[in-house]
Amino acid sequence: MTRRAGVIGVLTAGGDCPGLNACIRGVVGRAVTDHDVEVVGIRNGWEGLMRGHTLPLTRDSVRGIIGRGGTFLGTSRADPYVHGDGYESVRRTIEANGIEALVVIGGDGTLRSALRLAEEGLPVVGVPKTIDNDIAATDITFGFDTAVQIATEAIDRIATTAESHNRVMLVEVMGRTKGWIATYAGIAAGADAILVPEEDVDIEEVARVLRTRHRHGHTYSIVVVAEGVRPPGGVGGGVAMHGLDAFGFERLGGVAYQLAPLLEELTGFETRVTVLGHVQRGGTPTAFDRVLATRFGAAAADLAVGGQHGVMVALHGTRLVAVPLADACAEIRGVDPELFGVARTFFG
Ligand code: F6P
Repeated sequence: MTRRAGVIGVLTAGGDCPGLNACIRGVVGRAVTDHDVEVVGIRNGWEGLMRGHTLPLTRDSVRGIIGRGGTFLGTSRADPYVHGDGYESVRRTIEANGIEALVVIGGDGTLRSALRLAEEGLPVVGVPKTIDNDIAATDITFGFDTAVQIATEAIDRIATTAESHNRVMLVEVMGRTKGWIATYAGIAAGADAILVPEEDVDIEEVARVLRTRHRHGHTYSIVVVAEGVRPPGGVGGGVAMHGLDAFGFERLGGVAYQLAPLLEELTGFETRVTVLGHVQRGGTPTAFDRVLATRFGAAAADLAVGGQHGVMVALHGTRLVAVPLADACAEIRGVDPELFGVARTFFG
């Protein structure tokens, strides 16, 4: 491919996830090796772009990182539209570094900011990453597979101690507004009920399922709870407890502690809670996430260098495509009802 851009920038913003380093490596590898284009890394997401914190990235700077969790560039929840003046707050860094296209690796909040910057004239290519798997216009985001693997292994472990003690165990997983991790890990671990933000919580129905199960001789149960579910009665769940983050998103975590006493009262079964939290986002990515992140990164470099901006790389089936950033930001993608139907078949 011929050289079309002199320098491209890359940043990771929002919550981290396994595969970010693989993705940065994909961007740098493709840009440097196949396009002979220089890459500038931005430290700590949008914050670094606003403050001018950059570093040159070479093939050597990304050697040996494909299997490492987190992001060696750093990340933050700073936002040029919340903590700055939109494009004006990043223009100086873009111009000072001669950045002709910026690869933005992020989740819903980050991609929305990228879209607004693109509308103001910044040449942007988005890459969808999040363990929550809730970005529209792509079949999957990297980070999700690793989080599901971690959650499944945890639930498998919790199940054996639940069985020994005849307990109901509520396992709370991440998933701010959508229940992808809960659904996948719940199916994989054979959960007896799964509560997702896409559906109102019917605690009486969950209690009925558990009582029936116990009547049939099963003396323990596993209920997987996505952190973003609203407890019955309209109480704010974890929201009320932890406030908002820098993007203005609700800080979640702990809704299972509100649900457990309700279930215990309705069933009479001892009910315990495990909140998996950030363990789901940490550590080494699965092989699937490493490959997907590498492919996304390489494709993003191709688009950035080729002058195709205002788009996001996406996976449709097994093929990589470029979709308008506006499509990716049009909605938060929820769990497919057919998939949840499979989970429901095995409740109880
Ligand atoms: O957006 C991904 C996510 O993992 C959510 O599921 C979770 O609510 C949030 O990040 C937690 O982010 P932080 O670590 O910034 O509080």
